[in-house]
Amino acid sequence: MINTSTCVYGVIGYPIEHSLSPVLHNWFMSNYKLNAVYVAFNVHPSELKNAIKGGSALGVIGLNVTIPHKEALLGLVDEKDRDVKLVGAINTLELNAGKIQAHVTDPYGFTESLGQRKYWFKNAEVLLLGAGGAAKSVVYALEKLDVKKIWIYNRSAQRLRAFLDFCHNALTVSKVQAIDRKQLNDIAFDCKIIINTTSAGMYPHTGESLLRSDVFHDAHFVYDLVYNPEKTKLLLDAEHKGATIQNGIDMLIFQGLESLRIWTKQPLRLEAPKLKKIRHILQSRL
Ligand SMILES: NC(=O)c1ccc[n+]([C@@H]2O[C@H](COP(=O)([O-])OP(=O)(O)OC[C@H]3O[C@@H](n4cnc5c(N)ncnc54)[C@H](OP(=O)(O)O)[C@@H]3O)[C@@H](O)[C@H]2O)c1
Repeated sequence: MINTSTCVYGVIGYPIEHSLSPVLHNWFMSNYKLNAVYVAFNVHPSELKNAIKGGSALGVIGLNVTIPHKEALLGLVDEKDRDVKLVGAINTLELNAGKIQAHVTDPYGFTESLGQRKYWFKNAEVLLLGAGGAAKSVVYALEKLDVKKIWIYNRSAQRLRAFLDFCHNALTVSKVQAIDRKQLNDIAFDCKIIINTTSAGMYPHTGESLLRSDVFHDAHFVYDLVYNPEKTKLLLDAEHKGATIQNGIDMLIFQGLESLRIWTKQPLRLEAPKLKKIRHILQSRL
């Protein structure tokens, strides 16, 4: 029951209507028996500073941050953890006695979502599709997973160049190499692991995929950060050729769980049956 001790958490974004975070976190609150609520705040970019100061004054304990505020907040916080400094993006704020601390839990969410499959990455060659914000977190995670090589394709060449600069200079990851459209399908055939971090194939553009359907085979592991639809065209094509596939729903769940651990300072665990349950709930809300 909500009372004067109830802790308030939330997510800020613009727009925010389609966020699954309230469903995810309120399920966590109930599952871990926390006296807490989690709400969505539609915060216009011009109100960002006021919103976090106001949240702090009201005693809001933690906020998740989504598009378009993940980078805009970098100049508005008091402290950034090491991952935020490296990745250059924020998805979690701790509002603590007037001090605003920033974290990013996407790299953790990606790695944790792999489960035992994370061992497939050591010394592997990986094809990464996309060079946006999510790709930064994934490259950072791939470096920690000790991959051998990361081939990167992006639709816009200008963004790809900026992304390579970021990998080399900010992340100090040198094993990345840019490829163009002509090389894309051949490299996709040769790489055992393919990760899509673009919005191609995401609802309502469900007919889109960056790869030809005949490049897949049964030695492939294809991961798509998109989770709406549950299986994108990329995943359906790969599955059809016998590849192992995974969508982004577990990444969403684990980045959220890590935020909640940061806010509560509790080592919250999510056993397999519970993971299955929340995955099912989220998927049914899409
Ligand atoms: N599962 C999770 O927990 C999780 C976490 C974060 C993000 N995501 C998903 O990851 C995707 C990217 O998010 P983001 O934050 O990285 O966005 P972003 O910073 O806006 O980057 C978007 C990327 O997608 C590419 N792109 C978009 N539409 C495309 C198309 N039709 N064809 C080819 N490339 C296209 C862009 O290429 P250009 O540079 O050419 O425009 C860019 O590389 C979204 O679908 C998001 O929902 C999932």
